[in-house]
Amino acid sequence: MNDPADPRNPIQSTETGASPRTVAPLADPPVGPPLWLLAELTYRCPLHCVFCSNPVDYASLGQELSTAQWLDVLRQARALGAAQLGLSGGEPLLRDDLEVLVEEARKLGFYTNLITSGIGLTDKRLGALKDAGLDHIQLSFQDSTQELNDFLSNTRTFELKKKVATSIKAHGFPMVLNCVLHRYNLPHVNRIIDMALEMGADYLELANTQYYGWAYLNRAELIPTRSQVEQAEAVVQRYRKRIGERCKILFVVPDYFEDRPKRCMNGWGNLFLGIAPDGLALPCHAARSLPGLVLPRVTERPLADIWYCSDTFRRYRGFGWMKEPCRSCDEKEHDLAGCRCQAYLLTGDAANADPVCEKSPLHGAVEQTVRFAAARPQAAPRRASVREQPIIFRTDANSRERS
Ligand code: FES
Repeated sequence: MNDPADPRNPIQSTETGASPRTVAPLADPPVGPPLWLLAELTYRCPLHCVFCSNPVDYASLGQELSTAQWLDVLRQARALGAAQLGLSGGEPLLRDDLEVLVEEARKLGFYTNLITSGIGLTDKRLGALKDAGLDHIQLSFQDSTQELNDFLSNTRTFELKKKVATSIKAHGFPMVLNCVLHRYNLPHVNRIIDMALEMGADYLELANTQYYGWAYLNRAELIPTRSQVEQAEAVVQRYRKRIGERCKILFVVPDYFEDRPKRCMNGWGNLFLGIAPDGLALPCHAARSLPGLVLPRVTERPLADIWYCSDTFRRYRGFGWMKEPCRSCDEKEHDLAGCRCQAYLLTGDAANADPVCEKSPLHGAVEQTVRFAAARPQAAPRRASVREQPIIFRTDANSRERS
């Protein structure tokens, strides 16, 4: 372990009240800079998606950072070595200062990506964002059909999103289309790919639902069957062969249908640094849900100190924290024991092996969920008013109920 008092370790943790100086990391094992900065500018959103990755208690969280505070975060992160900047939410277009932040990020040398539902992305704003130097736009759809797109977001936005996609291309932005996949739209994967091709998307991200936050609340409704996943994957393979480089399709098999876990976030505190709207620094999107983790706040500690010295970012780095069977597993360097948030949600202890792994003694929790999905009829999604198995939309009222 590095000694914070050692003069060769120039960052001193403000956990002890010392003032920070910047030069080299304290962490053990050695860690590089946070190359990927995700600025979650706001949790406000015009959509009400049933699989939203925002915290379920978002409505009760603190005030959003000001423009000056976000600018300070960008400068500190860039000085640390961050290179990729995602601007997301909620819906980042609800921030009037988005263009100001993009302009500063560009000046600092970030590669900037706007992650948006498209609601509020007018021609005027697209022009302003282009002038500010925005590099890339990721636009979300819920499905290739108006019916399901509008049902899952609980809004009438499908036609508007199609127009926005056309405008994004007309302004010359590279565009990723993103569609979260689950039981209801996996059978539409061919139509979703056709839609992306028609719109001229450069990439299509077919993101199988990760079961945290709102998606975890709705897991019984959203979890697909194994055969749905396999059929969709086969469709994707056929398209990849047919269309080549015209549109790159990303499709990752959902965790529950794997027998080994994924290296979540490419390792805890290894590459990814998220900043929540209220200024909490996050090692992953779902870290708020982990008990006993005191998330550091960017308004209280310098970013370098948070990244290299905070207990939170150091908690699951390396291998020292692992329990069996991970500790002695010869695959631990590859998967880093999987996802801490999934381990907590499914086993009650974030330091356990991700139970997606078939070597985990608690793997049965995952198998049981997959068996449940297989036994469920393939019904159309049901309105929240149908009480026996309601879908829970992301709304302020539902969020307040869970705060
Ligand atoms: Fe938190 Fe995987 S989402 S570690």
